[in-house]
Amino acid sequence: MIRAAITGVSGYVPEDILSNADLEKMVDTNDEWITSRTGIKTRHIQRGEGLGTSDLATPAVLDLLKKTNTRPEEVDALICATVTADYIFPATANVICDKVGIKGALSFDLGAACSGFVFALATGSQFIETGKYKKVIVVGADKMSAITDYTDRATCIIFGDGAGAVMLEPSKDETGIIDTILRSDGSGRNYLIQKAGGSVLPPSEETVKQRLHYVYQEGQSVFKFAVTNMADVSAEIMEKNNLKSEDIAWLVPHQANLRIIDATARRMGLDENKVMINIQRYGNTTSATIPLCLWEWEKKLKKGDNIVLATFGGGFTWAAAYLKWSYDTE
Ligand code: UT7
Repeated sequence: MIRAAITGVSGYVPEDILSNADLEKMVDTNDEWITSRTGIKTRHIQRGEGLGTSDLATPAVLDLLKKTNTRPEEVDALICATVTADYIFPATANVICDKVGIKGALSFDLGAACSGFVFALATGSQFIETGKYKKVIVVGADKMSAITDYTDRATCIIFGDGAGAVMLEPSKDETGIIDTILRSDGSGRNYLIQKAGGSVLPPSEETVKQRLHYVYQEGQSVFKFAVTNMADVSAEIMEKNNLKSEDIAWLVPHQANLRIIDATARRMGLDENKVMINIQRYGNTTSATIPLCLWEWEKKLKKGDNIVLATFGGGFTWAAAYLKWSYDTE
């Protein structure tokens, strides 16, 4: 059986920073509330006219190509997980390919909100496992600032912009992506949703006036579902693969709220030094949180490390992946 392995990772966040102090000047909030309820201190925000999600993903993919010594024409497919596509259509993946010089390859977007990266990783792995494709790039990228209502204190404190990308290739040994559990429940759609702009409620003067083109979230309800499902799916993938806490080198959780991350780690019996956490600097970058963690921790990862990815997001969607890391970084 062919197994897919991550053979490189890269990331990108824009330069501009939005701090809790900045938000204090925009809405009725304070650093103490944001820090204690979410763990977030700063987020990176893409500023500038005419820039979109593909402009976050492009530097990450260009660096990934360089790091993995890959020429654009060698890439068989690129999948972009995002909820903030450059356009309703064409796909942001198509735009990224154009910007990095990948021509004529399969490329498409995948929407699963905060679970997008893990869903896309599982999807990309299947193309490798069939033997049909040799190099598949999986990107998680979101310009959340484009759909964040900066007058709504309950949501604007959470989100940031960023992108991360991994290269998938056939594994040469026992390492690689071993298992994934992917779940969804559309009955949760109204708790976390961008109500206008799609076919149910096409954009109009009225939808803009009512601010329906921004993210709407019932925070407490989403929190309850997230805590339960992210912890459950992480415990399930451990059990299914006979993994004890001591077997796991790293948990890579979606960065939505530090309290959700802590609850998942506790359920898995993991010390906090085995949990990748960068929410304090980037906030919730939706599809980008998990690859941004892998990128930042890359140098600490050792070949053979057992790694569990876990996520929960709008849809509802939730997922876990179990992989053995495939390379050491000099
Ligand atoms: O990424 C994918 C999925 N998303 C998530 O997993 C997010 C899940 N939800 C959360 O992380 C949390 O629910 C939030 C961080 C969004 C909110 O935290 P919370 O502890 O659930 O707060 P809450 O919404 O229950 O609000 C508590 C109080 C309210 O005041 P009252 O009614 O008790 O007087 C809010 O009005 O805090 C108030 N509040 C704020 N106060 C200061 C809400 N936002 C703010 C704010 N600053 N920014």
